[in-house]
Amino acid sequence: MMLQHITLLLLLLVVQTYQHPQEVYLNGAIKRQPLSSKYIINKFSSTNSSGDSTTNATILANLMGDLLIDNMKFPRCWNGSRKGWEKFANYTQSKRPILLEQDAWDSARLATNIFYRLAGEVMGFPVRYMEFTGGYDNVLGPRLQAGAVDVVMEMWITGIPVTWFDHGSVGYQGRSGMYIPTWLAQSDVTLAFDFWRFFQNPKAINTFKTKSWKPIVNNPDGTPICTGILKGCQNNTYHPAWWTPETDQNFVTMWHIDPSWSQYHYERLIDGLGINATITWLGGNNFYNIVGQALKNNTPCVFYQWKPSSFVAVNNVTRLMFPDSDNGLTLKWLIDPVNSPIGQDEATTIITKVKYLNY
Ligand SMILES: *[C@@H]1O[C@H](CO)[C@@H](O)[C@H](O)[C@H]1NC(C)=O
Ligand SMILES: *[C@@H]1O[C@H](CO)[C@@H](O)[C@H](O)[C@H]1NC(C)=O
Ligand SMILES: *[C@@H]1O[C@H](CO)[C@@H](O)[C@H](O)[C@H]1NC(C)=O
Ligand SMILES: *[C@@H]1O[C@H](CO)[C@@H](O)[C@H](O)[C@H]1NC(C)=O
Ligand SMILES: *[C@@H]1O[C@H](CO)[C@@H](O)[C@H](O)[C@H]1NC(C)=O
Ligand SMILES: *[C@@H]1O[C@H](CO)[C@@H](O)[C@H](O)[C@H]1NC(C)=O
Ligand SMILES: *[C@@H]1O[C@H](CO)[C@@H](O)[C@H](O)[C@H]1NC(C)=O
Repeated sequence: MMLQHITLLLLLLVVQTYQHPQEVYLNGAIKRQPLSSKYIINKFSSTNSSGDSTTNATILANLMGDLLIDNMKFPRCWNGSRKGWEKFANYTQSKRPILLEQDAWDSARLATNIFYRLAGEVMGFPVRYMEFTGGYDNVLGPRLQAGAVDVVMEMWITGIPVTWFDHGSVGYQGRSGMYIPTWLAQSDVTLAFDFWRFFQNPKAINTFKTKSWKPIVNNPDGTPICTGILKGCQNNTYHPAWWTPETDQNFVTMWHIDPSWSQYHYERLIDGLGINATITWLGGNNFYNIVGQALKNNTPCVFYQWKPSSFVAVNNVTRLMFPDSDNGLTLKWLIDPVNSPIGQDEATTIITKVKYLNY
């Protein structure tokens, strides 16, 4: 793409807040927003051959439940040659709108907006441009499989068995993980803070003890962000079995968002590697302030993030490496994440652009 074009898009998009893909493998939390009642898709009726109108509406409501903004319009951006597409205006304009899904995080917004300019402004097709919260339960499957949307430009593949037409990599990959500030990674090579074995070194753990702080974050009503999750978050925190209040100073806190992100991966990784770490969930509203402040203050910290994300892009941080081979633990963990330790880092995800199979 033309640099100037991309710069304009970046300017447009940079003002939007970031939210993030929920890469959840199994038993993922379902996050839904209220349905926009004006939303009707005629072709949806083809997805259930026995449905009455109530059934159709209910299924559709579920599929569209995280719609944030319908029918978005942007000032025209592309002003250059339409490469001959203007000659086909009568053809392109007669088509039904392309139902374009944009998910509410920056890299998806960028890729989707480029599609919107190309399909709409250059080629001249009507485009119904919609923003969804997106993420695992909504994006990665049923909505696209049903044809409730036609195109998704940033599909994070997981093991969900759904059908779509895959148009190949969008050009970048996704990977979640734990991060540390780069200055910490470079502070003492003998401690290797960018490698998981630092958790086995009391001297390295001590680095966190001396400057660490443990903010407690609750919901406005005082209840924990998360609690009561079997072998997971209790009162905002996960402690492995060998942790005790008396030995807490021997443990490094991993700052996390909420348990719907990479669910059970780090809980079971702590167990699997036997490392002295705990997890504290800060919630989507506070995570970025708290971790951002820690980075500003040069506080040693370990926190959950992923690429591509604007947080990793604008902060000087380094991904912490965990083992890349797992002696077969991953498969067990995928089947039973609550009870199976894992030894392996999170995998890289090939992010693809996809469309409704019958479009
Ligand atoms: C149609 O929807 C009904 C009600 O949800 C469901 O029981 C039925 O299995 C669906 N049929 C098909 C073919 O999906
Ligand atoms: C619901 O779906 C069925 C099956 O596709 C279709 O025959 C029916 O017309 C739909 N009902 C409404 C009210 O759209
Ligand atoms: C777009 O084209 C119009 C008319 O040709 C011109 O006035 C305007 O400056 C152009 N805008 C951009 C951003 O290039
Ligand atoms: C589009 O259709 C109109 C009306 O039939 C016709 O006058 C016009 O030439 C057509 N434009 C193109 C680009 O084919
Ligand atoms: C990132 O931090 C390291 C260590 O403090 C420093 O050497 C490097 O210049 C920083 N990079 C950027 C792009 O600021
Ligand atoms: C890990 O914590 C245990 C106490 O639960 C402690 O005995 C051990 O020394 C700690 N290991 C390191 C590397 O700090
Ligand atoms: C939850 O954590 C807070 C802060 O550490 C503590 O005051 C409270 O007693 C804990 N509640 C439960 C039920 O453990």
